[in-house]
Amino acid sequence: MSADVTTLSTVIETDSLERDAARALPGLLARSYARYSKFTVAAAVIDDDGRVHYGVNVENAAYPVGTCAEQTAIGAMITAGGSRVIDKVLIAAGSDAVVQPCGACRQRIAEFASKTCEIVSVQGGATSERIQFWSLLPHSFGPRDLEESL
Ligand code: THU
Repeated sequence: MSADVTTLSTVIETDSLERDAARALPGLLARSYARYSKFTVAAAVIDDDGRVHYGVNVENAAYPVGTCAEQTAIGAMITAGGSRVIDKVLIAAGSDAVVQPCGACRQRIAEFASKTCEIVSVQGGATSERIQFWSLLPHSFGPRDLEESL
């Protein structure tokens, strides 16, 4: 197989992975525990091994203790022994609006994001807007800052 064909098949596999994850998200919204805000969110983290990890938001009577869908999905990736390098984060909201990760989740994603990590919005089970993750969190504090101080 020539290099070009290999690259093409990798792209097709990546696309179908993304499409399948996007299709799965609306069904997961029903599992969200959004008792207080009623704002359901489901997320899929795709790691650089091509594994998909899902999460939903889980709210709490002590409001600040609630967790975002992205946070749950990152926890699932770590728990599953995923690659710990995030290529894509897909996000679907029950409102069907485009939702970008909150500030705290940007920091959580930054811990594991690849250089080309994308945030992909999902509406009606299909991908819509796409944005480079690092454009959402430039000049960030991350693992390297701690390494350099050791
Ligand atoms: N939420 C997420 O799960 N992800 C986001 O990207 C934005 C907000 C959740 C947190 C809370 O449970 C609800 O949406 C309303 O803020």
